[in-house]
Amino acid sequence: MSYTASIITISDKGSKGQREDKSGPALVHLLKDAGYNVVHTAIIPDEFDQIADLLKHCSDTLKVNMILTTGGTGFSPRDITPEATDSVIHRKTPGLVEFTRQESLKITPKAALSRAAAGIRDRTLIINLPGSPKAATEHLGFLLPILDHGLDILLERDGECARP
Ligand code: MTE
Repeated sequence: MSYTASIITISDKGSKGQREDKSGPALVHLLKDAGYNVVHTAIIPDEFDQIADLLKHCSDTLKVNMILTTGGTGFSPRDITPEATDSVIHRKTPGLVEFTRQESLKITPKAALSRAAAGIRDRTLIINLPGSPKAATEHLGFLLPILDHGLDILLERDGECARP
């Protein structure tokens, strides 16, 4: 079963062309390899309203099944991706964040510095990933084995929870 996805890179420097965005393309590559249909990508600055508006656009108008953001989850005063995400989601999915943090802590204690959020808006799953290509792709690697089952339930394509 295929799913549509949007990848949004959130970076002041990336949006001004002052830093090459390596995380967005790396995530696109991984998702395409996993059979996802990436229908939208964007690079925007760390601006609350722009982030919230684009998340709503991808969910309400483009109706993508999943949005992955990369960047803006850390401690910088400009890092407000989780707050902008929380402002548009209807239902939280804390297990996804707990799981990626737990797995990431096996790689680096700095994983504790991510403030990422995740949740559901209507039929769209929104997940914050960290900004560096290494961290973002590690996170997606942890999530890929379980995402299709969650998306099938969200999209009512599969009501059964197979074991284990
Ligand atoms: N998670 C994994 N798996 N690997 C990493 O290298 N880096 C951490 C963390 N999560 C990291 C990780 C670091 S150093 C930071 S500051 C936070 O993600 C937030 O990253 P962001 O500000 O780029 O979003």
